[in-house]
Amino acid sequence: MVRLRRGADVGVASGATKFLNTGIPGLDDVLGGGFQERGLLLLFGPPGAGKTTLVFQMAFHAASAGRRVVYISTLAETASRLVEHIGTFSFWDAGLIGKRLFIESIYPLVRQGVAEVARALIDTVRSHGAQLLVLDGLMTIRDLHPQSAEHRLFIHEVSVALAALGCTAVVTTSEVPDMHGSTPSEFTMSDAIVELHQSDVHQQPARALRVWKNRGAPCALGSHAVRITARGLAVYPRIETRPLPGAVPTFAERLSSGQPELDVMMSGGLPRGSVTIVAGAPGTGKTLVMLQYLIEGARQGQKGLLVGFREPYPQLAARARSFGMDLEGPVKEGLITVLRHAPVDLVADEVLAQVLAEVERTGAARLGVDGLGELDHMIAVERRRRGVLASLTEFLRARGVTALFTREVGQVVGPELDFAGSPLDVLAENVIFLRYVEFRGALRRILSILKMRDTLHDHSIRQYEIGAEGIRVLSQVESAEGLLAAIARLPSERRVKRRGTAPGRREGKR
Ligand SMILES: Nc1ncnc2c1ncn2[C@@H]1O[C@H](COP(=O)(O)OP(=O)(O)O)[C@@H](O)[C@H]1O
Ligand SMILES: [Mg+2]
Repeated sequence: MVRLRRGADVGVASGATKFLNTGIPGLDDVLGGGFQERGLLLLFGPPGAGKTTLVFQMAFHAASAGRRVVYISTLAETASRLVEHIGTFSFWDAGLIGKRLFIESIYPLVRQGVAEVARALIDTVRSHGAQLLVLDGLMTIRDLHPQSAEHRLFIHEVSVALAALGCTAVVTTSEVPDMHGSTPSEFTMSDAIVELHQSDVHQQPARALRVWKNRGAPCALGSHAVRITARGLAVYPRIETRPLPGAVPTFAERLSSGQPELDVMMSGGLPRGSVTIVAGAPGTGKTLVMLQYLIEGARQGQKGLLVGFREPYPQLAARARSFGMDLEGPVKEGLITVLRHAPVDLVADEVLAQVLAEVERTGAARLGVDGLGELDHMIAVERRRRGVLASLTEFLRARGVTALFTREVGQVVGPELDFAGSPLDVLAENVIFLRYVEFRGALRRILSILKMRDTLHDHSIRQYEIGAEGIRVLSQVESAEGLLAAIARLPSERRVKRRGTAPGRREGKR
């Protein structure tokens, strides 16, 4: 089975079946190559789901590749109304209209009857020598002729005639059938069925696309995120459908955190290919730990990718500067790449697709994500969280990327960590916990390592300081003895520590 490269126009996906690429970002991946040439594709979805946008984007892709395309609307809509609506998308190319892309309306014929429509479609394809036909709005025909006996034959006749003419057909309908029940005949006759839908998950608007069937191609089942922008439609395949790498390599290297004392606690640093969570209440310095980690990488010539949801880059750079860290230098040199998403209406698959693409593009060895909470929140369906995060960590591990995620925990002062939160808490190999404790009337910062897989890590609790020179973890000797003794006496501290050193966590084999 050959997977088609995006951008290639036609290729062979399986056996002798030729596939027509849609040219829509992500859609060909979901389809497993494209649509069968000379086949019939049925696209359904409620009004506003993006059907007309999708078919035009596909039509322009085909036309710009040299094919002749006919777009036929069943609506009374004039061509100028269509241009008004679809002409604003950047894929619209007025130069192709009337040359390789022909827009027609058959509304008057639709009123006459189904047989007239069929004849007109076939004639139009023949007269233009079209290789792709789009019939936008099958529902109109059904609405006008609900009882017609010819209706059942219509799709069959048209598709047979078009295939003989070497033309691929795309038909849209706003009818949304029960795909698990009995479907109209055109659904059973189609070579491919794609659904576009819009929904609200906890008032978070979401567009999605689903491939119900695509003959001869290994399509990715399930619902995939869609976004419509001025560039048109883009599909973001569910990250879980990415093929998993066969054997995940194991690495012996350690990556310095940029903090010598922390490296000692971690038996040399962060194990390459592992995931580390830096957990702590707001203000404990999680972001600084992450910045220090990325900047240390850059100092060693390793590429880093910073994914942030909170602060815009200038704010982050200024903050780094105020703690004696230079983020702008490595960013200018291209050693650190910053991806920032405002935490508003984020779609997990879209953001993660971008993160994975950037990891591949930049060859990043280090990834810093600030913070995990936003990532969790983006995955609107809670039951998907584990699978999504597991796919992400598998991908990172397979590429030898060492990742650090910051994770906010609710409580400001105190020794306990609420570990009920993210599935990544379980997936991550290492957890570093930052917190404030009160000691002799003042707040002190302390750091501990709650877990580290396959490594005998330091179980001590250390004090750390945040100053103009960044974060500095104090050695055991430097840490206030009375403070540490006081913490050790706290009953809840013993609870946290016991979790962190649970059997199998420390020396257990993976
Ligand atoms: N520039 C844009 N950015 C984001 N969404 C857009 C943009 N232009 C149009 N849309 C949305 O795209 C959708 C287009 O729907 P359309 O293709 O006409 O759907 P259908 O044919 O299924 O009724 C509409 O929901 C519209 O709000
Ligand atoms: Mg439409």
